[in-house]
Amino acid sequence: MAIDDLEEPSQSLNRRQFICGAASVASLPLMTHATDSIPSIADKDGLSATSQTVPMGFSVVTLRVNQQSHVISVDSRTTLLDALRDHLGLCGTKKGCAHGQCGACTVHVDGQRMLSCLSFAVMNDGRDITTIEGLANSTDKLHPMQQAFVDHDAFQCGYCTPGQIMSAVACVHEGHANNAQNIREYMSGNICRCAAYPNIVAAIQQAQPLMKKS
Ligand code: FES
Ligand code: FES
Repeated sequence: MAIDDLEEPSQSLNRRQFICGAASVASLPLMTHATDSIPSIADKDGLSATSQTVPMGFSVVTLRVNQQSHVISVDSRTTLLDALRDHLGLCGTKKGCAHGQCGACTVHVDGQRMLSCLSFAVMNDGRDITTIEGLANSTDKLHPMQQAFVDHDAFQCGYCTPGQIMSAVACVHEGHANNAQNIREYMSGNICRCAAYPNIVAAIQQAQPLMKKS
C-alpha cells in the first residue's frame, strides 16, 4: 500500500494547498519579469512609457540624443552608455573598460565631454546628449574631425575611434588643441591599444582651424 493511501483526507488537502501556494510564490518572479517587459522605447515624442506601470527599481527617463527625444523605462542602475547602446540602439559609443579608464564611451552632454559608463541614465534626464552618430550636421558630409581622422589614418581597429573623435572635438572647443603637447595632454584619457597616437594628434591639428571656421 502506498504511503499516500494512509494519509487522512485533511492532510492530503493541506499538501495540495501547500503545493499550490508554493507554485504561486514561485511564479511571482515570472510575473514581475513580465511587467519588466514593457516596451523600453517609446515613440520619440512619446509619453507612452509614462502611461504604463513602472516596475519597482525602474525609472522613466527622457533622453534627448542627437536632437531626438526618447522616453524609456530603465532599471535605475542603467548607465548612460548601456541606455544608448542597449535601449536606443546607438552602438557607435563603445564600451571598453566600463570603469572610466579608457575613454571609448565618451559622449557630449550639454556640450561637455563625459564618460557615459560613469553616469546613470537617470542623471541625464532632459539633458542634451550628442553621440558619434549625431556629430556631423548632415548625413552626406563628415564632421571636420571625422574627415581629419580619415585623412590621417588615425585608427587601426577603430574601436577607440568614436571616443577619440568625441574627445578631440571637445578638446578643440575647450581651447586645448593649440599645440601637439596640449593635445597629447588633453587627449590622455582616451586610450588607443593600436597606438595610433601620432596620427590622432595630426588629425586634431588638421581639424582645429577648420572647426573654428565652421
Ligand atoms: S568604457 Fe567608459 S571609460 Fe572605458
Ligand atoms: S584604433 Fe584600435 S584601439 Fe585605437
